[in-house]
Amino acid sequence: MSAPVSSSKYGQLSWTETLGMVAKLIPLPVVLFWSVATTAHASFNEDRSVRRIIGDCALRYLATNMSIPQLQHLFGTTLGMYQTWTKKMKLPATIDELGEDARLLWIGPKRLDRVVLFCHGGAFSLPATDYYASFWRHVQLELEKQGIPVGIVLLNYSLAPTATFPTPLKQAKLALEFLMVAGVKPQDLQLAGDSAGGNLILQIFSQMLHPRSSVPEIRLPAPLCGACLISPWTSLSADSNSHSECQGLDYLDKVSLKKWGAQILADVPEADRAFAEAVRAPEGWFQGVEGLVDRVLVTGGGAELLRDDIVVVGEMLKKHHPETELVIQTNGLHEDVYVDFAVGEKRLSSLTPLVVEWLAAGFKV
Ligand SMILES: *[C@@H]1O[C@H](CO)[C@@H](O)[C@H](O)[C@H]1NC(C)=O
Ligand SMILES: *[C@@H]1O[C@H](CO)[C@@H](O)[C@H](O)[C@H]1NC(C)=O
Repeated sequence: MSAPVSSSKYGQLSWTETLGMVAKLIPLPVVLFWSVATTAHASFNEDRSVRRIIGDCALRYLATNMSIPQLQHLFGTTLGMYQTWTKKMKLPATIDELGEDARLLWIGPKRLDRVVLFCHGGAFSLPATDYYASFWRHVQLELEKQGIPVGIVLLNYSLAPTATFPTPLKQAKLALEFLMVAGVKPQDLQLAGDSAGGNLILQIFSQMLHPRSSVPEIRLPAPLCGACLISPWTSLSADSNSHSECQGLDYLDKVSLKKWGAQILADVPEADRAFAEAVRAPEGWFQGVEGLVDRVLVTGGGAELLRDDIVVVGEMLKKHHPETELVIQTNGLHEDVYVDFAVGEKRLSSLTPLVVEWLAAGFKV
């Protein structure tokens, strides 16, 4: 895994929590060695390099053994990551302030003729890490090779427990508004989000279809070009079958995930449950989504805890939108595309070129 940002810490830990964190990390090398040795030959790992398997085991260790405040402390902030990452990559750091403590962070050069607005995952509690940025830089360079230069911009939204529902949704609205005012046309804008970021994109559609008075109305002058949901977090309750079936295969951990989800759900009014958990949306909830966005892509991993819920929501969207594609990658883990970039894997997940081609097709139309 790449080095977490050490400057501008987000989570403030007491000294006992800090000691606890250090103590929890001490066994990591031994546990890693053991878990790699015992899982490298498992059938679900047959297409993975040792490098990837080490990365998966390290993530599994962190997800299982660390609390959210400890992970926040370890990873720092999205803004801190962005500043370190742009320096390392020798790319410009271009930041647009949106107000309400939200900002847009541009990956590569800022351009407005074609834009991907990217909402990052992390259970609404963790920042974007540098390998998210590296994945999107890769997508940008691949699109450029095809003669499709694209501006890619990351939304820096506020995190739980400080910020609760619907703060990220309000901040996403500010981002859309900012881009529209700056001259981006909806037909040239694709939304992308992984995990909680995918959840946030579904919240945007929910707000457009069923406006809540707690959030300013989101109106766009025309349908968006596309929405790409990578391993979207659509059930925060962690109770579908795949959560048990894929425990130990995925790097997410069922018990941690349930805890993280419960913390978010605690602040969601019962009437807004479908915003936070699309999987629980009543019949017909997404009717009309066809008029909001031209195309939808939903991807998931065959070996990830969230798989069954991703399929339910993918099918739900398909029902109301003929241009919806649902792709489940065999043996894929949660946000499989990112992990390659965390460990410097050269043989990328099959979903990576698929996402590139799907975005390219949207911009070409
Ligand atoms: C969590 O840490 C313990 C030791 O502290 C270790 O035995 C266990 O394997 C770790 N969990 C995972 C999933 O790596
Ligand atoms: C976004 O930036 C602000 C300001 O530094 C920070 O407080 C916040 O935690 C950031 N969001 C994330 C996800 O790190």
